[in-house]
Amino acid sequence: MIKVGLLGCGTVGSGVVELLKNNAEIISRRTGDIIELKKVLDKDLDKCRALGIDEAKITGDFEDILQDDEIDIVVELIGGIEPALTMITRAMQQGKHIVTANKDLIAEKGKELFDMAKANQVDFYFEASVAGGIPIIYPLKQSLAGNQIKEVIGILNGTTNYILSKMSEEGRPFEEILAEAQELGYAEADPTSDVEGLDAGRKIAILSSIAFNSRVTFDDVYIEGISKITPSDIEYARDLGYVIKLLAVAKQGDDGSIQARVHPAFLPKKHPLAAVNGVYNAVFITGDAVGEIMHYGRGAGKLPTASSVVGDIIDIGRNIVHHISGRISCTCYEDKKILDVSQLRAQFYIRMTVKDRPGVLAGIAGVFGSNNVSLATVFQTTHGGGMAELILITHEVEEQDLNDSLAVLRGMHIVGNIDNVIRLEGTNRDL
Ligand code: NDP
Ligand code: HSE
Repeated sequence: MIKVGLLGCGTVGSGVVELLKNNAEIISRRTGDIIELKKVLDKDLDKCRALGIDEAKITGDFEDILQDDEIDIVVELIGGIEPALTMITRAMQQGKHIVTANKDLIAEKGKELFDMAKANQVDFYFEASVAGGIPIIYPLKQSLAGNQIKEVIGILNGTTNYILSKMSEEGRPFEEILAEAQELGYAEADPTSDVEGLDAGRKIAILSSIAFNSRVTFDDVYIEGISKITPSDIEYARDLGYVIKLLAVAKQGDDGSIQARVHPAFLPKKHPLAAVNGVYNAVFITGDAVGEIMHYGRGAGKLPTASSVVGDIIDIGRNIVHHISGRISCTCYEDKKILDVSQLRAQFYIRMTVKDRPGVLAGIAGVFGSNNVSLATVFQTTHGGGMAELILITHEVEEQDLNDSLAVLRGMHIVGNIDNVIRLEGTNRDL
């Protein structure tokens, strides 16, 4: 019998308890042995009691799980860096295999955890840490291992995708939809991590490390959130044939250099990711052999996330049955250069307010031209009060050249404001 110690009876923990119970028979048959939940831990014991767990199995003391030699696998679902890091580390030192959904921990401490797992000859699995119920870590490490991965583009945060989808459908402003999402329980009371792109940043750090076999940490990822997106940006995008999505992008250049970034982007309406709406997540991967593939589904929630956690438990269970460990361990065996965002090339959408009088457009175009920024589309809508709104789409340009142009424009008396600047993504793809 394979015995599991569970840390955390919250949203995902309760899903794991439910799934292990409801699908016990098929899980055991697929594993090749019975999987038993031996002990569960939470600060609030009543949360575990509410799941119908025997009183004898419930504890508030981590030592009860750590010192139980029968426990083979510790499933960490309390979240955050500490005490999760210490608990996982100590469990590994006791020879216990680990399953976690903790993206914060892996994006920041991945290397230490993998080194620790190797040193203690235990398995360390974390499928649920990226895109909840969507299988993506295992496919990248296993099914796609024969490919050179060129790029991974994801909609990895359900809260922001819900907000942008609603803004697009209903034309209402960001703040209003965010407040509604909080009332409905989709967005956290403190939504900063979702809205400012930090959650997606942690997830793309994990995916790019695996896809390109080189460590990318959260600090390496360039991050912009969605709080500056207005209904008018969404409307202009629609008129021009795009949707706005918060994308997490990881690419590898021909020289092996890596870029990892999270930001709102204009995405062509025909791109497969453009159809991903509401709280759904998706990951679009390009490999040299497989071509383009997309994984789509629920990126969060009790049972979808538990599905990934239980899949990991079963896989480790199979390893235990066959007396092996470390079969799929750290894949970061290279040390590739990570590019700064200023070194990247992209097309940009720029919305700016300018004085509405002769010669203004020529003056602005001149600034872009003298900084190597070529314009693909320009149109103007009158604002009133002698001001006009100018919408520009650039050709692909160096990000540094664009920033230099904008710095000059901000100092010109004909420019009232640079209202928004948004990258375009997916425009090079055949649609
Ligand atoms: P919850 O907050 O719902 O559950 C965590 C539980 O652990 C809570 O009951 C919490 O108690 C308890 N806990 C926290 N710290 C301790 C501690 N030191 N000792 C004992 N118990 C503790 O979180 P989720 O289930 O939503 O998330 C768990 C993990 O899964 C996180 O890493 C999260 O990022 C990840 N994840 C979650 C997804 C989701 O859809 N929810 C999707 C993908 C990943 P208290 O509430 O009192 O702090
Ligand atoms: N807060 C995340 C989201 C879910 O909105 O997608 C957990 O990863």
